[in-house]
Amino acid sequence: MRTSSQLLIGALAGSAAAMPTVVEPRQVQCPAFPSPVPTYSQYPVQSTLPDPFLPLKYTTTDNAAGSSTFAKDIMAGKGSNRVKSTEEWYKCRQPEILQMLQEYQYGYYPDHSQEKVEATRSGTTINIAVTAGGKTGKFKATIQLPSGASASKPAPVVINIGGMQNAPYLSAGIAVAQFDYTSVAPDSNSKTGAFWDIYKGRDIGALTAWAWGFHRTLDGINMTAPEIDPTRVGVTGCSRLGKAALAAGLFDTRITLTMPMSAGIQGIGPYRYHGMSGQDETLENSKSGAGWWSNSKLGTFVNHHENLPYDAHTVAAAIAPRAIVIDQGSGDQFTNSKATAVVVYPAAKLVYDWLGVGDKIAMNVRSGGHCDMAGFTSILPFVQKTFFGTATTKDFYSGGTYGAPMTTTYPWATAVPPKAA
Ligand SMILES: *[C@@H]1O[C@H](CO)[C@@H](O)[C@H](O)[C@H]1NC(C)=O
Repeated sequence: MRTSSQLLIGALAGSAAAMPTVVEPRQVQCPAFPSPVPTYSQYPVQSTLPDPFLPLKYTTTDNAAGSSTFAKDIMAGKGSNRVKSTEEWYKCRQPEILQMLQEYQYGYYPDHSQEKVEATRSGTTINIAVTAGGKTGKFKATIQLPSGASASKPAPVVINIGGMQNAPYLSAGIAVAQFDYTSVAPDSNSKTGAFWDIYKGRDIGALTAWAWGFHRTLDGINMTAPEIDPTRVGVTGCSRLGKAALAAGLFDTRITLTMPMSAGIQGIGPYRYHGMSGQDETLENSKSGAGWWSNSKLGTFVNHHENLPYDAHTVAAAIAPRAIVIDQGSGDQFTNSKATAVVVYPAAKLVYDWLGVGDKIAMNVRSGGHCDMAGFTSILPFVQKTFFGTATTKDFYSGGTYGAPMTTTYPWATAVPPKAA
C-alpha cells in the first residue's frame, strides 16, 4: 500500500527529476490545549491513575458523547487519539503536560528570557541578582567543592535546599551547593523574598518560586564557578522541599538528575491512593494547611481530586528522558511511601520504558523515617551512575520492601499504545 506522501513524491518525480527525493518525516499534529481551559467538572472522575498517553483534549467529558463508560474506558487506555510515537510525546504531550501542570497546580513559571541574571562570587558564596520588569530580587548561594575540582576538571553538582549529607557526595567528587529558600520565597503566605520582589501579584505557588531559586542558583554557578560542570546537575530537598526539587527538575531541562526525598503530596505521592501509608497527606489537607505551595486553581479540585486529569506519575513522566531518583523511607510517618513505590513509580516507569529510557527512573525504598539523612547515601550509587557512568548492582527499580507494583491502579498499562513505525 502506498502512503499519500509516496504518492506525492511519485507525482512530483516527473517535474523535478533532477532533485533528490526527500522523504519528509511523518507530520506530527499536536492537539490544541483545550480553550477555554476546562474546569474540574469537565473532567470525568477517575479513581485510578489517569492515562499519561491521552491528550487533555480527549480527556474532557465533552468527548463522552453520552457514553456511560467514558471514564472507565479512558482509565483502561481505550481513549481515542492517544500518543503513538516518542516524537509525538516529546513534541506534543510533554509540553502539554507542562502547561497543564502550570495551569492547575504550579502557576506559570516566569519567562526566563525576560530576566537578566548577575552573579558575583566571594570564596564559597555566590551573590545572585535577577532583574525583570524593572524589579530586582537578590539572594545568596553557597558552594562546597570536592578536592581536585578545577576549571580543567570540573565536578558535577547537587543543589539542595534545607540541607543534605554533604560529606559522602564531596568524597565521591560531587560539589554541593545550597541556597536559603526562605530568602527566595518564605514557606508562608507573606510574599517577601527575591522571587516575590520581582513577581508579587502573580498566582504562582511557592514550590515554583523555590524551583526558580534552584535555576537561578545554577545560572550563578555557571557564571562564577568554573570548578563546577553546569551540565551535570542534581536538585534535591526533602518533604516540602522535595516537592520543590521535583518542580525544579520539571521546569528546567538543564537539570540532569531530579532527587525528591520523602516528597509526598504535590511531590511524588499520589492524590489518588493517598492513604496507603503514613498520616494520609491529601490534596485537601495540604491545600488547607499550606495553600501557598501551589496556585489558587489547585484549590478548585479540593474534594474533587479524582477529577484531576493527572497524578504524580504524570509529573515524573514529563521529566523523561532526564534522570530521576525517588527516595522514600519505609518508616515515614508523614508521606505515603508505599503508594509512591508501588503505584506512582511503576506507572511513571512504564512511560520511561516506552520512551526507551527505563533505566533513568529509579526508586529507592530504604528503612528509616521521614527525611532521614541516610537517604542521601542510600541513593548515592544512582547519582554516581548518572554523573559518572559508574556501574551499580544495587536494585533501584522496584518497590523494595513494599513488594510488587499494584497494576490495578493504572489499568491503561495493559494497553500501552503500539508505536507508529
Ligand atoms: C552557561 O553560560 C553560557 C554563556 O552565557 C551559556 O551559553 C550556557 O548555556 C550556560 N550553561 C548552563 C548550563 O546554563
